[in-house]
Amino acid sequence: MATRIIETNLTNEDIPVEETLRPQLLADYIGQKKAKETLKIYIDAARQRGDALDHVLLYGPPGLGKTTLAGIIANEMGTHIKVTSGPAIEKPGEMAAILNSLAEGDVLFVDEIHRLNRQVEEVLYPAMEDYAIDIMIGKGQGARSVRLELPHFTLVGATTRAGLLTAPLRDRFGVIHKLEFYTVDELATIIEHSAGVLKVEIDPEGAFELARRSRGTPRLANRILKRVRDFAQVKYDGVITLDVARTALDLLDVDKLGLDHVDQNLMLTMIDKFGGGPVGLDTLAAATGEDAGTIEDVYEPYLILNGLINRTPRGRVVTPLGYAHFHREAPQQP
Ligand SMILES: Nc1ncnc2c1ncn2[C@@H]1O[C@H](COP(=O)(O)OP(=O)(O)O)[C@@H](O)[C@H]1O
Ligand SMILES: [Mg+2]
Repeated sequence: MATRIIETNLTNEDIPVEETLRPQLLADYIGQKKAKETLKIYIDAARQRGDALDHVLLYGPPGLGKTTLAGIIANEMGTHIKVTSGPAIEKPGEMAAILNSLAEGDVLFVDEIHRLNRQVEEVLYPAMEDYAIDIMIGKGQGARSVRLELPHFTLVGATTRAGLLTAPLRDRFGVIHKLEFYTVDELATIIEHSAGVLKVEIDPEGAFELARRSRGTPRLANRILKRVRDFAQVKYDGVITLDVARTALDLLDVDKLGLDHVDQNLMLTMIDKFGGGPVGLDTLAAATGEDAGTIEDVYEPYLILNGLINRTPRGRVVTPLGYAHFHREAPQQP
């Protein structure tokens, strides 16, 4: 399957670019005003007390800046960050070893934290609450549990699927933040900044056009910038103007709202096969061949944000705006 240009998950093409474009400090992190303000207060307070920051849970669709924010937290606290992910840790002992290797105040970043298995997760409970882990020594009758003290550390968890987190784990986070889609203006700022770093010439209308089609997602904004830069280099004299941006994005099959063929397929399936809905998530997944969880967490939030579909108790419904976007006639309301 060809990768979508608007695939919001990290792809190989992003890795070298993202490393150079990732903001390092809170002040350089665009948007997410609420998350930033709250974190700043917590960070300042923790630093004043000379203690570790409370555990932080970040959730929201891919590419909105969760990993970036975890790195910023460590930088602002003046500590180190250790990075791992839910599926990477298979055994409780591995989690215990990671925890034991942390230094005072360190940040442990666990990406996709909803994918930790239950036994590994249970190691985290006392670690988060009491900064300690219980280790079993010996076997059978003579086995006993020994408590090992840990340094005060900060767990930063990230997930695209907050709903899959167990209650005991979620309850142990002192700070919980949902990252929101970015506004077009915020994305334009990010694009202009990235263009500066990558030494790409772009005019404000060009930046705005790219921003408008980036699905509220910085990762996409940067990827689209890179693709359009290549295009501008080959076909024009390297400058990204409004015209170049439009032509390139049309060629890349990203429409004016940033929708690509997967979104279009979802929308048109709802319109043509289900009379605009209501249609249940699983039915829609089966009809389009997409994964239900991915529809719910990745595609749908952006379609809802743009008012193209609504989520009702009976299923997903295409709105009049959704019909209009695809130049279709909305059915008459009974
Ligand atoms: N608030 C922001 N300001 C500027 N750039 C950002 C911001 N958030 C994310 N980015 C850019 O988008 C890229 C993807 O962000 P990332 O933190 O990896 O997303 P996530 O972990 O949520 O999938 C980063 O490398 C960075 O270049
Ligand atoms: Mg990430």
